[in-house]
Amino acid sequence: MVVIAAVPGGLASESLDGLVDNAVRTSLVRLERSVSEVGDPALYPTYGTPQLKWQLKSSADWTSGFYPGCLWYAFEISRDRRFEGWARQWTAGIEQEKLNPDTHDLGFRFMCSFGNGLRLGRGPEYDRYPDILRTAAATLARRFNPRVGALGSNWDLHPTGRSVPVIIDIMMNLDLLFWATEHGGPAEFAAIARTHAATTARDFVRPDGGTYHVIRYDPDTGAIINRSTLQGAGPETTWSRGHAWGLYGMVAVYRHTREQRFLDTAVKLADYFIRNLPADHVAPWDFQSGIKYRDVSATCIVTSALFEMVRYLDDAPLRNHYETEAEAMLASLCQPPWFATRTDTNCLLDHSVQFLPINSNVDVPAIFADYYFLEAIVRYRAWHATRRFPD
Ligand code: GLY
Repeated sequence: MVVIAAVPGGLASESLDGLVDNAVRTSLVRLERSVSEVGDPALYPTYGTPQLKWQLKSSADWTSGFYPGCLWYAFEISRDRRFEGWARQWTAGIEQEKLNPDTHDLGFRFMCSFGNGLRLGRGPEYDRYPDILRTAAATLARRFNPRVGALGSNWDLHPTGRSVPVIIDIMMNLDLLFWATEHGGPAEFAAIARTHAATTARDFVRPDGGTYHVIRYDPDTGAIINRSTLQGAGPETTWSRGHAWGLYGMVAVYRHTREQRFLDTAVKLADYFIRNLPADHVAPWDFQSGIKYRDVSATCIVTSALFEMVRYLDDAPLRNHYETEAEAMLASLCQPPWFATRTDTNCLLDHSVQFLPINSNVDVPAIFADYYFLEAIVRYRAWHATRRFPD
């Protein structure tokens, strides 16, 4: 168990459980208030303003699944039925994206909303959820290019001729494809997900465990045209959130396939992330940039991923090592300046970075930081209570 030293202006020495309990209490109050702040179930929080108020977008934004996901985790943590009702309301608005061919982020949108709803909800209100998830998976699967062996990205700021850009973030969408195959969908969906993960593990990871953000492939031959970045500082740097998506995605692929190569890749990415963290465990937005913003969302994603990864490791000292690292990260996240201290905000974590090279939403809250923070807490508590992962 991590014991926290006094933090300037923050909490005195306290166990991690105490820090988590405090953060949960405050988070539930803020999430309840957020329902009035957001108001319209057709609108979804994305990034915070510098005053820590939510900016809202439609379900078409890639982040739309995270707010219903936060409400589902609030229901899981509190068992307060009002959160279930709100979660269902904001989940319903995501359905219209199930046939959207213009995005690779259907996994984010649908597993965080409908996926969590199906995991936690009981009753006829949930009867349509599996069909909606399978339809979204079918839409996503159509992005697969068999020559490249990957699902193509829906965007590229600097396209190189006729290329298929693949970004490491897409790893986060594979869970939807595996879920669909495991629940009555075609076997092909899981095969596509496995191939995409194998391509990512082979091409995106450098010998030192750092990662590329984007690789452009020739659509006809599958050959690599170039390796680079879109949201990071440079082609040979490691953008921390992209790296976090890669790590989390590899752990999830191992959950479905039990193929050692995916767990080995996850461990390699975890080692790189941990080795390059500052003393307070909150990642810089890019591990090599001279611009010193942090991106708290990267640490939220990795903390949650590590609490899953540890359950797959047979070696006890190794498991303890990653568990200690994940606990240290979670302890930092529960405290200022990362856990926002303003009493008039409904955001949980401050200091994420959306897209620094185009100066978009830099050093503000991000809804996905809150989502993976809550997930990390649910996973931490389940692991400590039962040495099991929540079903
Ligand atoms: N997947 C988009 C992002 O992480 O900003």
